Amino acid sequence: MLSSVVQHTSFFRSEARMSDVLVVNGGAPLKGEVTVRGAKNLVSKAMVATVLGESRSRMFDVPRIRDVEIVTGLLELHGVKVTPGEHDGELVFDPSNVERAGVDEINVHAGSSRIPILLCGPLLHRLGHAFIPELGGCNIGGRPIDFHLEALRRFGAVVDKAPEGLHLSAPDGLHGIKYHLDYPSVGATEQILLAAVRAKGVTELSNAAVEPEIIDLICVLQKMGAIIKVHTNRVIEIEGVPRLGGFVHRPIPDRIEAASWASAALATKGDIFVRGARQADMMTYLNVFRSIGGEFEVDDSPSGGGIRFWHPVGDLRAVALETDVHPGFMTDWQQPLVVALSQANGLSVVHETVYENRFGYTEALAQMGANIQVYQDCLGGTPCRFGRMGFRHSAVIAGPAKLHAHDLIIPDLRAGFSHLIAAMAAEGRSRVHGVDLINRGYENFEGKLTALGADIAR
Ligand code: EPU
Repeated sequence: MLSSVVQHTSFFRSEARMSDVLVVNGGAPLKGEVTVRGAKNLVSKAMVATVLGESRSRMFDVPRIRDVEIVTGLLELHGVKVTPGEHDGELVFDPSNVERAGVDEINVHAGSSRIPILLCGPLLHRLGHAFIPELGGCNIGGRPIDFHLEALRRFGAVVDKAPEGLHLSAPDGLHGIKYHLDYPSVGATEQILLAAVRAKGVTELSNAAVEPEIIDLICVLQKMGAIIKVHTNRVIEIEGVPRLGGFVHRPIPDRIEAASWASAALATKGDIFVRGARQADMMTYLNVFRSIGGEFEVDDSPSGGGIRFWHPVGDLRAVALETDVHPGFMTDWQQPLVVALSQANGLSVVHETVYENRFGYTEALAQMGANIQVYQDCLGGTPCRFGRMGFRHSAVIAGPAKLHAHDLIIPDLRAGFSHLIAAMAAEGRSRVHGVDLINRGYENFEGKLTALGADIAR
């Protein structure tokens, strides 16, 4: 798959297959500068939106990550031409010849990502039918798609579940709906937006997700010609239009990656300037970072600013926090921060309320010497929908604990980055297996680590 994408776009560097194990000699602070580009969780969705348009789209600041490569492959299979633009990180999409792709070809992407489910609306509008392979993504909970399918059926889609994937058709086109999400799911909100913008009539979505990546997707769709109103109280109203054009867009920066480097600075007693990080998208993270004792400084200079994050002269302090939908503390910020909390004085509590099973990675941290216990109870205040269901979704972290080197196996993207940070913070040589998974969401992470002074080798 990699080689076919390289032939088509030459956007993705052709890398010789290397060992999937990174040897980390930890114990030194990470210091220096890294740059973050467009947010993975917007860029991949904006790429899907190009299919809805009838003219070319351009996107800047696209990171070279595996998820972008996977979506590129899917778009190309459906006849969208994807070519590099004249600037570094620019991609151009030409959707003038969207066509049906074979099930076998699409199934090459089975299990690779969760993005294919978002192609339903765009393909139904362009072709009248769609095939969606089995989804992949991180194993952090059940990750059902019931909201997606229920909404699509209400729009008028016929959905057939087959062993090889989902077959969808829309014999009478898609029609606007009134829909209430039981939980403000990011993916389901995107699904409904991508289906509603070209559906006949008005769609009213209540209890929608309003993450900055969703608002940025709405900006993309508006540039294409959509009419979308974001009301108070998580209500989004979409007036369907018959035709959409292309867009030119610079995505919001990746606030998950930015926070990952910030947590790496704290955990390793380092000092990292994250060029491209934007305060407005990270307010909740910055508040917690400051409560722990971390120092930061926002640089808004016109030459392209960022945020400098550093470890204080004194000790870190324990905190209690819970993950939540926006504007709460992002679930994806949790894992790298927990490594830093293992170095803070006292008992920290992290209550995960977005995914039921996102603490599996703490076992490896415990083997490295971190003092972490995971509980089924909703610890730290508000009961959540996972209470009394038997999911171990609250963690208590006692610190500071001395971390020692260990062999680690990376389980998923964000957990993987936290394992890497732990290996950086630990004295001695760790072998981190499965590091290629990190390429899914972190561009050139090895180059960035080396630039920060990390002692790493394949
Ligand atoms: N949910 C349902 N039914 C559905 C859809 C979701 O019950 O039909 C539940 C999920 O089980 C979960 C909760 O709703 O408990 C939230 O899931 P959501 O749909 O919001 O997540 P997602 O769209 O699958 C995106 C990001 C995740 C990020 C979450 C929350 C992408 C590709 N993924 O996932 O990012 O954690 O929103 O912000 O945008 C990552 O980047 O590593 C990552 C996992």
